[in-house]
Amino acid sequence: MSTTNPPPPPPKLKTRILTIPPSSPLGSWSSPNSLQTWTLPPTPLIPPSLTLAATALTTSTASSFSTPVAFPTETVYGLGADATSSTAVKGIYTAKGRPSDNPLIVHVSDLSMLSTLSTIPEIYHELISKFWPGPLTILLPVPTSGQLLAPEVTAGLTTFGARMPDSPLARALIQLVGKPLAAPSANASTRPSPTKAVHVLEDLEGKIELILDGGDCAVGVESTVVDGLCDPPVVLRPGGVGIEEIRQVKGWKGVVKGYKDRSEVGEGHKPRAPGMKYKHYSPRARVVLFEGHKPVNVGKELEGGGLKKVGVIRTGEWEGLVGETEGRIESEEGGFAVRQGSLRDEEGKELATVLDVDLGRDVKGVAHGLFAALRELDRLGADIIFVEGVSDGDDIAAAVMNRLRKAASEIRP
Ligand code: TXA
Ligand code: MG
Repeated sequence: MSTTNPPPPPPKLKTRILTIPPSSPLGSWSSPNSLQTWTLPPTPLIPPSLTLAATALTTSTASSFSTPVAFPTETVYGLGADATSSTAVKGIYTAKGRPSDNPLIVHVSDLSMLSTLSTIPEIYHELISKFWPGPLTILLPVPTSGQLLAPEVTAGLTTFGARMPDSPLARALIQLVGKPLAAPSANASTRPSPTKAVHVLEDLEGKIELILDGGDCAVGVESTVVDGLCDPPVVLRPGGVGIEEIRQVKGWKGVVKGYKDRSEVGEGHKPRAPGMKYKHYSPRARVVLFEGHKPVNVGKELEGGGLKKVGVIRTGEWEGLVGETEGRIESEEGGFAVRQGSLRDEEGKELATVLDVDLGRDVKGVAHGLFAALRELDRLGADIIFVEGVSDGDDIAAAVMNRLRKAASEIRP
């Protein structure tokens, strides 16, 4: 009989949320219309929480045990670590439970920081001046000599993804650390990306020490990832910047989509069987996506039995199932309200509880509230969530539908 003890469980950490007030001084560009240098405010004016987070990111890399720090960007919350330290980057994979063959995006505060990592090919110049700082990630070659990035960032590839976030809070944090930050979205693997600090807490409590709270993320879906190193250039992931905007830029007219999307649905547009694929962006509840605006007949869906709480996310055409006067659970502050009501049969017998969310017609508003709505319905105990898709387009709608198709267990026309 073996006498070896099992390895001790990883230590449970105390997770704190540190709020950065919206009016905090976070710095400015050294010269207008140039992304060269982000200058921090004088030290005494820097919010103490920001200094604390930067210190945690700098000092923990010296030890063999390292925990990343969650911080807001304009897209989603990121889970950051010093991109030049293997120990620090490994901490990201541990906290997230993410397979380490998936490369991470490197976030920089300004172009001067990026120039320490790589030179920027001509194809990106106009793209950068149009969309940075902002929700666009570009692939750059990893320099063959004097490698600065930890190999864990690139997962062995010859390129790395770089992004300059629009959030001044994110840029101030990076500048204060003085190193580029590798950061995936700060959700646990397979869960919807976090757009509020509490979402990060839901997923990573006990696994990280600090979450910087800078309020709700404005965009709500991740950055668009593009590869301009190949011909024609490719969009690898649709995101906050629309492909139609990218097409307007010199050298990008012929840009192609390099991600799988509609084709994933299956031949002849058949409904896809549940559980047939690797889950991503998913709440615990089963998500059923309606690609067209064909209304869901919830009564009919309930016929199989077993469903007690039904979530519905509407984006324009579907009629509300819950009256305006029925329970409002969340304030409009987060961009949407959840109304709770009852679905009844003709005799008035309750068939199920309905949790109804209207994200509105504006596709930017839908993107902004999408992940938060999926998480909120989960928190309220929905067994199933019916989602009204948005019309496919080459704007941010492409990102919304891409994430929804990945989150869905079933897709209906
Ligand atoms: O908006 C965002 O991009 C957020 C915030 C935190 O900045 N970050 C984010 O990171 O979404 P993550 O790790 O969840 O997604 C990174 C995406 C993945 O699809 C990854 O495969 C791709 O970028 N990626 C990163 N480096 C790459 C590379 N060298 N080649 C191809 N794809 C790459
Ligand atoms: Mg992610």
